[in-house]
Amino acid sequence: MRIEYLHASKYGNGAAVAAAFKKQMAAKGVDVDVHHIRDVRPAELSLADLYVFSSPGRFGRPIGGMRRFLKKVRLPAGTRYAILTTEAAPKPHRKTGRIPTDEELAKYQRVRSVMNEILQGKGLVKVGEDKIHVTGLKGPLEDGWETKAEAFVAEICANLEESETAPERAPREASAA
Ligand SMILES: Cc1cc2nc3c(=O)[nH]c(=O)nc-3n(C[C@H](O)[C@H](O)[C@H](O)COP(=O)(O)O)c2cc1C
Repeated sequence: MRIEYLHASKYGNGAAVAAAFKKQMAAKGVDVDVHHIRDVRPAELSLADLYVFSSPGRFGRPIGGMRRFLKKVRLPAGTRYAILTTEAAPKPHRKTGRIPTDEELAKYQRVRSVMNEILQGKGLVKVGEDKIHVTGLKGPLEDGWETKAEAFVAEICANLEESETAPERAPREASAA
C-alpha cells in the first residue's frame, strides 16, 4: 500500500500534520510519500493506492496554489483520494459567545467543499475527509491535533480495507458469497 500526500503548507502547520500522518501510517506498515505541491507536477503524480490532498484555508477557499494544482491533476476516474485541511478554528460570536454550527460555517468556509468539487468533477472517489484547526491565522495547531490525525489515519485505513473488499473490486469473492 502506497500513499501520495500532497500539501500546500505555507507556515509549516500543514507540513507538521503531513509528517505525523506519515509516521502514524508507517506504524501500520503503509508507505507515505509527502510532497509540497511546488515540488511536483500535478499531471505527473506517482502511482499510489491513495492520494491525500492538504490545503490551508484562504478567505473561505483552499489556497490559490492548491486550487490550480487540483485543476491540473490527471488521475484515472475511480482513483481514491482523501482531504485533510488545516483551517482557522471557528471564533465564538462576538455578542452571544456561541460557536457557529457546521451548517453556518459552511456558508463562508468552503475550503474542503471546493477541493471535493474539483476532484469529484474528475471522477475521483473520496475515502476520508477532515480538518485540523490552527488557533491563530498562522498557527499553532490546536491542542490534541496529533490525536485527531491518528483518528483520520484509522478512518482512512478502515475505508481503504472496506473498498478493497467491496464487491466491484473483488468479483470472485462476491459471486462465491
Ligand atoms: C490571509 C489569510 C487568510 C486566511 N483565511 C482563512 C480562511 O478563510 N479559512 C481558514 O480556515 N483559514 C484561513 N486562514 C488560516 C489558514 O488556514 C492557516 O494559515 C493555515 O492553516 C496554516 O497552515 P500552514 O502553516 O500549513 O500554512 C487564513 C490565513 C491567512 C494568512
